[in-house]
Amino acid sequence: MGCVDLDLLGYFLTQPHRSMLRAMHYFPIYERHFRRFVGNPITMFEIGSGQGGSAQMWKHYFGPLARIVTIDIADKAYLTEPQIHPRRGDQGDPAFLNALVDEFGPPDIVLDDGSHLMKHINASFDVLFPRMSPAGTYLVEDLDGAYWADHGGGLRHPDSFIERAKALVDEMHADYTSGALKAGPYGRGLVNIAFYHALVVLEKSPSINREMIQRPLPVPAP
Ligand SMILES: C[S@@+](CC[C@H](N)C(=O)[O-])C[C@H]1O[C@@H](n2cnc3c(N)ncnc32)[C@H](O)[C@@H]1O
Repeated sequence: MGCVDLDLLGYFLTQPHRSMLRAMHYFPIYERHFRRFVGNPITMFEIGSGQGGSAQMWKHYFGPLARIVTIDIADKAYLTEPQIHPRRGDQGDPAFLNALVDEFGPPDIVLDDGSHLMKHINASFDVLFPRMSPAGTYLVEDLDGAYWADHGGGLRHPDSFIERAKALVDEMHADYTSGALKAGPYGRGLVNIAFYHALVVLEKSPSINREMIQRPLPVPAP
């Protein structure tokens, strides 16, 4: 994973906050993919509020300009505090998710830590990925469930989000397939898909600079 800051881990282990449960290996991944947002006026959609500890951690990490919209099927209104906006709804409900984007604008970060069921992960991704910021980051965690039948997944199962992410590798390169593939709403703007143990990160960018530069310039033949 290389050398990364571990500010989040320090906060998680030592600061007073509401409770949360986290796999330790997620912390370097968060730092790697989320650090660029620190201090910026970002909107994060967190799917799955739990007991509220993670929303407080994201608020602390991203700083005073960040808005954390924490989404849960249960009523979590009691988690309301400056910068933290709980909203009650089903992550599998497109109308609910579209209304959230209408209310808060395109999210810069989506972190799916909700039901972990494939139908819900896919339904949220269907709506939120195309509507997120053109430089946004979408992270789905606890994807061990993608291999479990009781989560709607299984090895190479068509509904598995791992399979969907694998297919997006080709969609990200649709321009090079001589028309065999078209970059649809999910491939467009997608520039990075990172697979980790039980976790996938997808990053968008408004453009890629694929200009080729040669330095030093070639010496003309004598
Ligand atoms: C793993 S917990 C989230 C933990 C939290 N992010 C943390 O780190 O403390 C999962 C949460 O997802 C919520 N949830 C389950 N199904 C959901 C659904 N269909 N839509 C939205 N939230 C759901 C549960 O109520 C639960 O609070």
